[in-house]
Amino acid sequence: MSEQSLPRATHLVTGIGQAFTGRPADGAAGDDPTLARSSFVPELLTDVVVAAGARGRILYVGPESGLEVAVDVSAADVYAADGRLATPGLIDAHTHLVFAGRRHEEYALRCLGTTYQELAEAGGGIRASTRAFREVDADTLQSCSRLRLDALLAHGTTTIEIKGGYGLDLENELKALAVTGALAQEGPQRVEGTFLGAHAVPDEYQGRQADYVDRVVDEMLPAVAEQGIARFCDVFCEAGYFSVAESERILEAGKAHGLLPKIHSDEFEALGGTELAARLGAASADHLTAITDGGIRALAASGTVGVLLPGTTLFLGKQDYAPARRMLEAGVAVALATDFNPGSSTFISLPVITTIACSQLKMHPAEALAGITSVAARALRLEQETGRLEAGLAADLVLWEADDYRMIPYAAGHPLVHRVFIGGVTVWKSVSGICR
Ligand code: NIG
Ligand code: FE
Repeated sequence: MSEQSLPRATHLVTGIGQAFTGRPADGAAGDDPTLARSSFVPELLTDVVVAAGARGRILYVGPESGLEVAVDVSAADVYAADGRLATPGLIDAHTHLVFAGRRHEEYALRCLGTTYQELAEAGGGIRASTRAFREVDADTLQSCSRLRLDALLAHGTTTIEIKGGYGLDLENELKALAVTGALAQEGPQRVEGTFLGAHAVPDEYQGRQADYVDRVVDEMLPAVAEQGIARFCDVFCEAGYFSVAESERILEAGKAHGLLPKIHSDEFEALGGTELAARLGAASADHLTAITDGGIRALAASGTVGVLLPGTTLFLGKQDYAPARRMLEAGVAVALATDFNPGSSTFISLPVITTIACSQLKMHPAEALAGITSVAARALRLEQETGRLEAGLAADLVLWEADDYRMIPYAAGHPLVHRVFIGGVTVWKSVSGICR
């Protein structure tokens, strides 16, 4: 092929020592015996380059020797990775990042033994955040959320899902989504919006839960759909929050408005929300700390991803982590997310979440890394867009101050991110080094 007809690369990363592509390996597990116990055997490429071109898409991933016949790199901007590890950009598939106020007093009370549910029953919890949220204007919300997104970028997060759910009335849920839409426009991260009007029953509807559900369905959902920012509709299906029947009604109404279902289920008690998610073809069911065998079977038999949030269990001071091993062994697609929010998890770092997942849920580092890349993309129905180092997908990647993917959970919060690329373009770089 003549050089003129080759696709033109705009950006090129050379000298990648190891690439964790987010795809399963073709053949055997290689020389790591621990992978025999992992449900995911990762494809690991050594000494490769990644070329990106038009629309920020990956044109080529492979050995430098094959580059010339595949891509025209004559005008590409080149970055030498110097033997570093590359992974897909990280995907945080469950956050509540657009919030106002703080709940550090509740945290202190929880440290002394008060439970999350007790605080909620006393008018704290989500309803406390709602009171703060309604006070704050959209510009302030946006600038705070911007700072939080910048912080996430330094931890390698290139795609993030953001739920509303602290407005709990039409005006304020639209405000949350408008801020989310503005953040998405601004970039550089890819931002996906979720409507979570059924996150809690607000103060003014206490004792009138059915009326609030009517309001979510009849007033909020049509307006949210018309606004056009949310792609997903979520419900907190839990004792003391919304029942399975209410969740079904809301998620079905969301579907009728073109919103893909998601659910918070089995966080404290198994009500049947996970089975509902599977039945509705939800993109994901999230939390799942109290998931039953029936829930596991339902997820395994459906395409619904189980999103585990072990930072929440840790932050709430609990021990009952989701049964990740049983889920993986049953064939459930397991993703991991931060659940970043002001009440139940202030974690922002997906690498830290992999440490908790490996140490406490007994996930293999390969399973954990897949959980914040390729599987997380499925939880957001973005698997044709991002989450793998593969030609045709967005050139979202992270270079790490490491030469082996297992260093990411192992490093337990050390700032290992060296450089972050979105659509091939450098969007963040470390100013300090770390001993590799
Ligand atoms: O995912 N579980 C429900 N919602 C959030 C908590 C939000 C809050 O406490 O503010 C969660 O953990
Ligand atoms: Fe949540």
